[in-house]
Amino acid sequence: MNIDYLEDQHMFHLQTKHMSYLLRVVRGNQLAHCYWGPRLETSALDYLPQYIHRGSFSPNPLPEDTNLSYDQLPREFPGYGDTDFRSPALEVEFADGSSVTHLEFVGYRIHRGKPKLTGLPATYVETNEDAVSLEVDLVDPVSQLSATLLYTVFTEHDVLVRSVSVQNGGAEPVLLRRILSASVDFPDSAYDLIQLSGTWGRERDVVTRRLVPGTQSIESRRGASSHQQNPFFALAESGTTLRHGQVFAFNLVYSGSFLASVEVDAFAQARAQIGINPFDFHWYLEPGETFQAPECVMVESSDGLTGMAQAFHRFYRKHLLRGTHRDTERPILVNNWEATYFQFDEDTLLDLAGVAAEVGAELFVLDDGWFGKRDSDRSSLGDWDVNLEKLPNGIVGLAERVHGLGMKFGLWFEPEMVSPDSALYRAHPEWTLQVQNRPQSEGRHQLVLDLSRPDVCDHLIERVGNVLASGPIDYVKWDMNRHMTEVGSLALPAHRQRETAHRYMLGLYRVLETLTERFPHVLMESCSGGGGRFDPGMLYYMPQTWTSDNTDAVARLRIQYGTSLVYPAVTAGAHVSAVPNHQVGRMTDLRTRAHVAMAGNFGYELDLTALPKSDLREIRSQIEWYKTIRPVVQFGDYYPLKSPFEGEGNDSAWMYLSTDGRVGVVTYVHVLAIANDAARRLCLTALEREARYRLEEMDGASVVRSGSELMQIGILLPVVRGDFQSWMWRLERLDETRGE
Ligand code: DGJ
Repeated sequence: MNIDYLEDQHMFHLQTKHMSYLLRVVRGNQLAHCYWGPRLETSALDYLPQYIHRGSFSPNPLPEDTNLSYDQLPREFPGYGDTDFRSPALEVEFADGSSVTHLEFVGYRIHRGKPKLTGLPATYVETNEDAVSLEVDLVDPVSQLSATLLYTVFTEHDVLVRSVSVQNGGAEPVLLRRILSASVDFPDSAYDLIQLSGTWGRERDVVTRRLVPGTQSIESRRGASSHQQNPFFALAESGTTLRHGQVFAFNLVYSGSFLASVEVDAFAQARAQIGINPFDFHWYLEPGETFQAPECVMVESSDGLTGMAQAFHRFYRKHLLRGTHRDTERPILVNNWEATYFQFDEDTLLDLAGVAAEVGAELFVLDDGWFGKRDSDRSSLGDWDVNLEKLPNGIVGLAERVHGLGMKFGLWFEPEMVSPDSALYRAHPEWTLQVQNRPQSEGRHQLVLDLSRPDVCDHLIERVGNVLASGPIDYVKWDMNRHMTEVGSLALPAHRQRETAHRYMLGLYRVLETLTERFPHVLMESCSGGGGRFDPGMLYYMPQTWTSDNTDAVARLRIQYGTSLVYPAVTAGAHVSAVPNHQVGRMTDLRTRAHVAMAGNFGYELDLTALPKSDLREIRSQIEWYKTIRPVVQFGDYYPLKSPFEGEGNDSAWMYLSTDGRVGVVTYVHVLAIANDAARRLCLTALEREARYRLEEMDGASVVRSGSELMQIGILLPVVRGDFQSWMWRLERLDETRGE
């Protein structure tokens, strides 16, 4: 890992073990993008970028230099109106009404470590030896508006992270209309665009389309990163597979509305960008003020989608997730939501918790319905006082009894929301997002609190903090169940109304930072109607996310595969639930449900007290098995073996391997049975060819095979009888064959 500046060529070379990224200061003091890809052993690229005369429709900023037009120059942080007609990264309105920006290079700094981003989540270093950073200063000489681009490369990781801050060095306020976090100009556009799209209950479907001339974009305008689009996209060379092909990927560390776009220009170049969604956004920058844009994590992989996923996983596990829970195995939980919904009392919960403890669960989570008069989703959000009719001994009494059963105790909150039928709303109707004189739309009978207001944020810190301080609460599920409408704040002046949504995110991040700092022992899991805010911004504060409200094992194959392309298993909650499944009505075996849920942070979310003894015996042995594979699932390397998005999507397989290669776990799921089907084999990967491995089937036999056999011949899969069948194996390298 290194960052070099080659003075004679004005070239910056950012390097990781396997990747290079080159920038150059060129004619007109422009910061040009020269290369991003596998590591280059030279920085002597004086032939880049190319200058080609493009004629009068690509005008020339330096009139004597007709080969120079910003219309075709690969630029690192493009402004608007200075001969570049492509999508800008920065768009402003100056006090005189003009909007031309032309940023010129003025200086740079290279230093070890990585500075924090004020007010925003961002990847971090533990010591200055972990990373090296480059800061490049650009200034618009006419307006004195300046931008500082921050790039960091890490010693142990093949990633590049970048962000930008903009400072108003002029004498008048400047209106920021658009400030994207990353903009990369690719010299060609022969790529597929891969995105993770969906909706509630169907998050992160992998959608792939060919780039075409013009702009293709994905975005959220919902005030949350959203179920609909994840703040991620990748450009993959044609024919990219799980193991092969070059992929360039972008992931925004932000939980609000975002825009990601790729513009293919007339010269077949592609400009890829991501950042806060400029739609309904602006920000007034007073003289001397700075605006910090979120960070973007960029991965280049020459090893297909697996290489991309592994780079994100390894990096996020060490430099995004924080706190005492980062490196500790996550507890196996039982959550009461699908077991009881709102209908419970202390006895019901303790019955459920009793069985949970008997089968070996480690954490009991009380979900929605414990506070105010919350017997349905029509009331009480905001009134975080325990309902003593349901829980006469309070949360503390319940928590202590759960602890007495030998489990930890967790509690659900939805702090960002308020029910119109609540004491909080009656006292503070002005605390909700709203536009004066306009009716407010409800979603799930609730309104969104205005977290752009510091007083609302302080109130949340106090109310949630008081509950957490009141007793032995070990875990919090932080939910958020609707998107923003009628976005505006009664606390902001008219000219700042469009700042509301971003100010909300800054407020939320402050609340989370304060609470996680005050209660470091509490394991936080974020949730937004399932995986509606599964993004790196949330993961910075809460190291795990509820992947989806859809707990059906078959639907989860796609949801979990899409999620796994970016986010590591240790961040993804996966529970066994009842059949018929509450979201899709499907019947699947308990075994298959468990096999699929064991691909993440494992748990159960069904009425264990209603199950026959044989099911409870099976659950007990599932939990015992998961405990043996948990370290490799949560901290090992991930190898998708078969994508559920390939072909008919009738089967899916994945594997985790410990980083030392000694233990692994393999899962295969077959969806619909096929009469007289082909004989199938599952080839493993990344094993040592000559080593011998014990392959032990869950509830089945074990065999010993060499790595080369397992990779080249594979596991011979059983003939599948019945729909939704699955198999799981534990893999152990037998050291004696290696002379250890
Ligand atoms: C939505 C969550 O995703 C569910 O798991 C559950 O917590 C409900 N909210 C409770 O209202």
